[in-house]
Amino acid sequence: MHITMIGSGYVGLVSGVCFADFGHDVICVDKDVGKIEALLKGEIPIFEPGLEQLVTDNVRAGRLSFSTDVETSVAASDVVFIAVGTPSRRGDGHADLSYVYAAAREIAEHVKGFTVIVTKSTVPVGTGDEVERIIRETNPDADVAVVSNPEFLREGAAIEDFKRPDRIVIGLNDDRARSVMTEVYRPLYLNQAPLLFTARRTSELIKYAANAFLAMKITFINEMADLCEKVGANVQEVSRGIGLDGRIGAKFLHAGPGYGGSCFPKDTLALAKTAQDYDSPVRLIETTISINDNRKRAMGRKVIAAMGGDVRGKTIAVLGLTFKPNTDDMRDSPAISVIQTLQDGGATVTGYDPEGMDNARQVIDITYAPDAYRAAQGADALVIVTEWNQFRALDFARLKSVMNAPVLVDLRNIYRHDEVTKHGFVYTSIGRPM
Ligand code: UGA
Repeated sequence: MHITMIGSGYVGLVSGVCFADFGHDVICVDKDVGKIEALLKGEIPIFEPGLEQLVTDNVRAGRLSFSTDVETSVAASDVVFIAVGTPSRRGDGHADLSYVYAAAREIAEHVKGFTVIVTKSTVPVGTGDEVERIIRETNPDADVAVVSNPEFLREGAAIEDFKRPDRIVIGLNDDRARSVMTEVYRPLYLNQAPLLFTARRTSELIKYAANAFLAMKITFINEMADLCEKVGANVQEVSRGIGLDGRIGAKFLHAGPGYGGSCFPKDTLALAKTAQDYDSPVRLIETTISINDNRKRAMGRKVIAAMGGDVRGKTIAVLGLTFKPNTDDMRDSPAISVIQTLQDGGATVTGYDPEGMDNARQVIDITYAPDAYRAAQGADALVIVTEWNQFRALDFARLKSVMNAPVLVDLRNIYRHDEVTKHGFVYTSIGRPM
């Protein structure tokens, strides 16, 4: 199969590279000349474990290339994926579809022969209809089938998720696309990954429903954690106790400082907006959004409480700035609100993150340290906001010797109470008895 991937951002790049690895011929296209030039030199613009090697291997094998030229690559393709950004529109929270529609127009001008156009970007219900309308309006002779094929990749585990998916969802209204999409996913299909064919609108909704459900699940356990603190119960045992019920499932029940990232906050908001527009409000999701928004600042207040209620003039070290480990992504990271709350309280913050500091510098004005111990130097408290593996085995004796006061606030529950307190630390975590 000849495949064009329009948009070489996170989803486009990972999907394009993985399709090439399946044996297809893939061209990843982007308007950003700098990005394409970097990719041609083998420089990967995002941090994603395993991606660089996979790019190198597939470029070398001649199956993967990068280009800014939409025309040539679209004309030669059987399948064209649209994987451009759909950010929240400023002001109203709806998904901004201008990049998707611009891509549709450009594709329409250059398609040759029967071509399957696939939306991989996360788009509201009905976007496929509009993409199809734009293509037919721009080029009435175009012979296309417009398909929805949402992506369920997690940052930091994207390649694994792509190659071993729980399911592949394909929404189409034109049966000719069915065999083409089966061929595109052939290696996974042969490995028994379920290919779920639905109508296009259903597929578009599945993506939002999945992310909203997961965001709700996290928010549920976060509220349980707060309740655990009040009643003297342990949220990790509650998670295990309910998660072993197959109907509930054990995943996404880790209490923490609230969900962040480029997907859950944006997608829950867009779903709530769409639902309001159709006069069918999704109140569980509206509530999830507001609980999660409040939680991030509440976590800052939790740190302040753990330090005796007043942080004016104090120094606080924050470990982990990205919205989760194994990414350099700072978008909607809880660390931003936590740090802001601490700064508003009059504290000075020093931060360290293994991969996210370049991006963090764009959004938070703090002192950056080159490692965890340097961040802790002279600090009145140490706060773990993101559970990078390298924070799971900290040398507490060393930390204690460099800190001004041995206080640890662990917003990800990566330690046990006794293993921290035995070193003389005052330890606060989420939803567990002191
Ligand atoms: C999420 C979904 O998990 C993917 O399936 C989906 O494809 C993707 O969004 C997307 O729509 O593109 P991602 O945002 O990369 O993936 O990250 P997650 O691993 O889902 O984590 C999201 C947030 O939830 C993080 O801030 C994480 O710390 C938090 N989280 C997750 C918890 O607080 N507790 C948990 O138990 C799980």
